[in-house]
Amino acid sequence: MVLKLIPAAALAFAFTLPLAAPVMAQSATDEIAKYRQMLADDNPADLSEDKGAELWRTALGPNKVSLEKCDLGLGAGVVNGAYVKLPRYFADTNKVQDLESRLVTCMVSLQGIAEADAKKNPFGANSNMQALVAYIAAQSKGQKIAPPMSHPKEKEAYAIGKQIFFYRAGAHDFACVTCHGAPDQRIRLQSLPNLLDAKDAQATYATWPAYRVSQGEVRTMQHRLYDCFRQQRFPEVQYTSEAVTALTMYLAKNAEGGTFAAPAMKR
Ligand code: HEC
Repeated sequence: MVLKLIPAAALAFAFTLPLAAPVMAQSATDEIAKYRQMLADDNPADLSEDKGAELWRTALGPNKVSLEKCDLGLGAGVVNGAYVKLPRYFADTNKVQDLESRLVTCMVSLQGIAEADAKKNPFGANSNMQALVAYIAAQSKGQKIAPPMSHPKEKEAYAIGKQIFFYRAGAHDFACVTCHGAPDQRIRLQSLPNLLDAKDAQATYATWPAYRVSQGEVRTMQHRLYDCFRQQRFPEVQYTSEAVTALTMYLAKNAEGGTFAAPAMKR
């Protein structure tokens, strides 16, 4: 009798422990889903979009011109569908750029703003950059994620991004892949998308920029990656650095074909 009971108790114990965390995490995810549903037609990111649209059209900087002639890759001033075809190679800068580094280029070349000023306060409360990104990204809603990959520098950016994704270093010897390379991983209550899986990569890439409920701000992909470099205990990454563009290219390519749905709402 005793012999029979011991294995049963051990079994129960073994089952309880690993299940406890996922069950809690599930309910947290459900709560966020409910919250999202409640606000579905009312994403606070709408306010940022409006502000971004206004900023796009407002004459600013020493040259007193708007950004309406800024070429985001589809021709001067074209915002419709521009986001899903970024990052991409630009001949005038001879660089692969994501939206944010491209906007900095336009602020400098069109509006005459100093580069340091254009890069100032990119993540701060009510930053102009996050509003512009929210506006431009929203003009790609419903379109397919399709970063171009024909120019050698685009291929190179992808390859570098891939290398960074797998590069382990820092105090904990972490790489992106440590946290984002397997299904159903979690840190505390947060599920970690497997960015090597097309479906997860699409669902993730399609939903940035996002209004983050926990932060009360719209956050861009630059901010997301900045924050993950921090979680990875890497040195602080420079705003619009080529490393971030390369990583973004890698993530965009992994998400290719997904339907873009940002600005979204997230935890
Ligand atoms: C120590 C673990 C860890 C490492 C290393 C890490 N991340 Fe993250 N990542 C997280 C956590 C935690 C979240 C937030 C999940 C949440 O808030 O729901 C996250 C979120 C993300 C997201 C957004 C996910 C979503 O669902 O929208 C992306 C994209 C991302 N990380 C990319 C990266 C990249 C690229 C790297 C490498 C530079 C990286 N991460 C390194 C833990 C990590």
